[in-house]
Amino acid sequence: MNPLNLFDIERLARERLAIGTADYFGGGAEDEVTLRANRAAFEEIFLRPRYLVDVSHRSLETTVLGTPLSMPVLIAPTGFQALAHADGELATARATAKAGTVMILSTFSTYSLEEVRGEVEGPLWFQLYVHKDRGLTTGLVERAESAGYEAIVLTVDVPVLGRRERDVRNEFVLPPDLRVANFDITQSAGLHDAGGESGLAAFHRGLRAPQFSWKELEWLVAKTRLPVILKGVLRGDDATLGVDHGAKGIIVSNHGGRQLDGAIPGIRALPEVVDAVGDRVDVLVDGGIRRGTDILKAIALGARAVLIGRPAVWGLACAGEGGLTQVLEILRDEFDTAMALTGAPTVGAITRDLIA
Ligand SMILES: Cc1cc2nc3c(=O)[nH]c(=O)nc-3n(C[C@H](O)[C@H](O)[C@H](O)COP(=O)(O)O)c2cc1C
Repeated sequence: MNPLNLFDIERLARERLAIGTADYFGGGAEDEVTLRANRAAFEEIFLRPRYLVDVSHRSLETTVLGTPLSMPVLIAPTGFQALAHADGELATARATAKAGTVMILSTFSTYSLEEVRGEVEGPLWFQLYVHKDRGLTTGLVERAESAGYEAIVLTVDVPVLGRRERDVRNEFVLPPDLRVANFDITQSAGLHDAGGESGLAAFHRGLRAPQFSWKELEWLVAKTRLPVILKGVLRGDDATLGVDHGAKGIIVSNHGGRQLDGAIPGIRALPEVVDAVGDRVDVLVDGGIRRGTDILKAIALGARAVLIGRPAVWGLACAGEGGLTQVLEILRDEFDTAMALTGAPTVGAITRDLIA
């Protein structure tokens, strides 16, 4: 089957992957209410197209934090990409750079941040978790800086790991040949031997710093010359606090429904966050973006750009770099069509009045 859309690619990927891996990538927390709602929320938004506009020339280009993008779609940080394809994050970096956009590398990558940086010239951002061990956190930030990453994306929605029951049932562990490449071997031991639970849960328990709060954000902002972007914000007041404490961007996200089940879909939280801080910093959104019209809806509601998580991994699982390229080109074509059909020849012309 020649995949026509991202759902086709997901089906193909699931057929190729072992069930434990497909569940790790595809699953969410507890009843997966938020995971399903992320998709449903887009389907509940309707558009008010504007016709008889000259859309013969269209430009999908934009900028995020000053970085030019060929279209407003970035690659969200997702862990352990070598589970999908042997080239893992290296393939993601290549496909993303060729597509003219930005990859956000997860702390839990299976190639090190230096290896990924060495693979491409294009802009890369580094996703950071704050660890109990301050030295581990600052070490990662310093490495990202000296390797040439252009931003730190601080994930705030994992004070503890969400309860991902699929991973518990499957006793999810990393195969012995894969490593958490930014860490040394003792730090990632739990991931290889779960002792009857989810290896990811065991691993996170050893690392997380649930006491991290706004004061520590100031500490991190002061530690680095790179802009710090907060990922996982779902409220306007949190976004305001974040920007007041030095954040230079906000990613509205519920972690793809993998953290708090019952959390609001990002696309529904977006307008509140844009109203709170949209005139001060760029606001991005993720969760459930599968169609060009989803991108258009997000931009119309005030997002500067969107992120895709699972679709990138499904593309990798199908055909490595080429599979992710296909995902990005399908989205590009669909977004282009959506712009033409709503009378928006530029990203700037995608305005709130397009939402019904
Ligand atoms: C398999 C997987 C691993 C993820 N790992 C991380 C991670 O390491 N750090 C992070 O900030 N978010 C992580 N996320 C969340 C994504 O960055 C993103 O918020 C989410 O996938 C977006 O939803 P979508 O998958 O519907 O596009 C992960 C998501 C998935 C599916």
